[in-house]
This record gives sequence, C-alpha cells and structure tokens, in this order.
Amino acid sequence: MLTPARNDMLTRVGPGTPMGDLLRRYWQPIAGASELETMPIKQVRLMGEDLVLYRDRGGRYGLIDRHCPHRRADMAYGWVEEKGIRCSYHGWLVDETGRCLEQPYEDTTNPKPSKAGCETKAYPVKECAGLLFAYLGPLPAPELPVWEPFTWRNGFREIVLADVPCNFFQCQENSIDPVHFEWMHDNWGSRLRGGDANAAPKHLKLKFEAFEHGFTYKRVREGQSEEDRYWTVGRVALWPNGFYLGSHFEWRVPVDDENTLSVAWFFVRVPKGREPYVQERVPTWKSPIRDENGRWITSHVINQDIVAWVGQGRIADRTKEHLRSSDIGITLMRNRFFEEFEAMAAGKEPGGIIRSANAAQCIALPNMAREINTEGLTRAEFDKDPILRQRLREFRHHVGQPAEVRREFVEAMGIA
Ligand code: FES
Ligand SMILES: [Fe+2]
Repeated sequence: MLTPARNDMLTRVGPGTPMGDLLRRYWQPIAGASELETMPIKQVRLMGEDLVLYRDRGGRYGLIDRHCPHRRADMAYGWVEEKGIRCSYHGWLVDETGRCLEQPYEDTTNPKPSKAGCETKAYPVKECAGLLFAYLGPLPAPELPVWEPFTWRNGFREIVLADVPCNFFQCQENSIDPVHFEWMHDNWGSRLRGGDANAAPKHLKLKFEAFEHGFTYKRVREGQSEEDRYWTVGRVALWPNGFYLGSHFEWRVPVDDENTLSVAWFFVRVPKGREPYVQERVPTWKSPIRDENGRWITSHVINQDIVAWVGQGRIADRTKEHLRSSDIGITLMRNRFFEEFEAMAAGKEPGGIIRSANAAQCIALPNMAREINTEGLTRAEFDKDPILRQRLREFRHHVGQPAEVRREFVEAMGIA
C-alpha cells in the first residue's frame, strides 16, 4: 500500500516530476522505423509532450515540438525535405536539432535575417533493430543500449504497438509478477477456451534478484524443479520500463499520466537449414485492444495482460491494495524507483545508464532461450516443443497480425 503522494511519484510522467525526469534519462522506444516508410511524419505524445517524429529525405530522424516555432501550426501537417521538416502554414523549415533553417518571407525581404531565438524543441532519435528510440533527457545523451537480441541474425523480427488507456506503471508492475501467468494466461486462458477447472501447475516458490539492468524473477511450479531454467535463469523486468522474456521485449512507454504505448519487439530464429535469412525490413503493426462491442479483446496473451492493466483504472489506486508474498518483486521495484528519485534529487545519475560506446554495443541479459535463438532448432525440434510449435502456427501474443506479415513469416520459416 502506498500513500497518495508516493503513488503520484511513481505515476506522474510530465517534465519536472520524479518519474518523468527519471524516464527521460533512458532511451525510449517510440515507433518502428518501417512506420515512416510510406508516411514520413508521425505525431507522437510522449510523457505528456506533443511531438512529431519524422524522417527527412536525407534519411535523418527528427523528433521535434508538434507546434511550429513561428505561430504554432501543427508540424504533423507539414512535409519533409532533403534536410528537415517544413511547416505548411508559412513555410518555415526546421531541422532535427531544432534549428530554424528557413523563414521564406523574411529571407526574401531581409538580406540577413536572424533566426536566433526561433529554435524549437528537438530530441535525438536512433534506429536499432527496426525500432526508433528517443532520448528526452539532459544532454549529452547516454549510449543507446544494444541488447544482445538486437544483434542476433537469421531471425524474423516484428514490432507490435498497442495504445493502452492507463498509466504505464501498472503495466510495468506486470513485468515482475510471475503468479499472474498461472491465473491470467493459464487458468483464465483455459476458461476462455471452454475449460472448467483451475488445472494450471501451481507456483510453489518465487525468487527476485536485482541487477544493473533491472530484476530477474525465478519460479518453481508444480512439475518443475530448481534445475529448471525458470529457476536457474528466470525472466527480466528490464529497468526502468521494460520486460524481457528471452525471445521478445515489451516496453511500457508513457504517453501521458493516463495512457501508455505498448511497444513489443519479437524474434523468431528460422529453423536450421533456412539460413542465411536476412530480413531487409522489420514490419511494424498496431494491435487493437477492443472488439466491435467495445469489450477488451481477451484472445491473445498480451491482450489479456492489457485487460489486467486497464482494469486497475486509469491510474491504479495503490492506497487500496493489499500486497502479499507474490508481490515481493513489485515492492522491490517500487523501492528502487524511490531510491533513484532520491539519488537524482542529490544530483546523481540513475543506474543502468551506459556511457561507454564499447559497453553499449552488445549487452547480454539473463536469457532462458539464448541457444534456440542463436544456434537454432531443426523443424523437427520445433514440432516437438509445444510452445515453439505454436509459434510457427500462429502469432499468439497480440491479436490482429496483418496477413502480409504472416506471409513474410511463413516464407522466412519455410512452413508453407
Ligand atoms: S506557423 Fe509555421 S510557418 Fe507560420
Ligand atoms: Fe502476462
């Protein structure tokens, strides 16, 4: 249970708030690079700031104030040029550093027009593994961490986005919540398919451990032992707002205090014998979360998680909760945020930020599935494993995978 003031500290994300300032110190995934191929400008709202993301014709990414520095027209309705983005109202041209390059009428009438003071807000953007990451914090920006899976080869990758109408922190608490798998995905999942028993293997034992880039959680369920990778390796609640499950990442990126962009990145290595597979472009698609009657969609794994997140309210009221031993990880994670807020208030840099370009190149995280993703499996081995077999058959994480993405996947995997 938290006081209202402590709940605010964990959930408010605007500039100048403890959480908003902390999250701004880390690169945040905000879009798929492939989204900008047909329409090079995308309006985005991030941590309460209205911005436009764009790729200019010279291939540079920019993330600037949604409003033009001249008289605040909407830059999302401008156009991109060789260098920069131009406002459609009076033609001012701005580049990715926020500099104003042209003011057409002034440039015509005044031999030496000064553009000083007409800079607009601009944040750095970097592409990695098909994702676009933005950094909204104080400069110099730290290195963008290249997590090891981003360097894996011979795999099919896809990016799935979902607009989730609740605060990001309750989504992130789900990253350190092993017991919900048993109830939400197994028992409820079975009931949604017509089952009528709580037959999922029970959790018998949990362990949570902190490390530089977050926490691992480990578990033993009925039928498993401490030899199992679920206990020896576990899964990662990635600091500060991600989740890493061995073959995919999920991030809960705050749009504002009451909305979150769910960004998920998936990797499936092609079966042995299908190499070399080179994916030229990582597809990005948006998953719906409501059905035609306005009810939350419950058929897919992350859609089920979203039902839990939004069900807690726009901002979960943590003054009314009752934490128990299943929630030890949640308390650990909250306490780490509170400690980091204090450290930042004392002028220190929060943990897990990488300043060495060398160190950032390939960062390994605890991973239960490294060999299957690096060495690969034969088709026969895929077929023997119930989860992997399922992965080839259909995309189980989010509803709504577009047919063309499925086609590309089928072709990559050789599963006609
Ligand atoms: S408002 Fe953008 S150029 Fe005038
Ligand atoms: Fe889940």
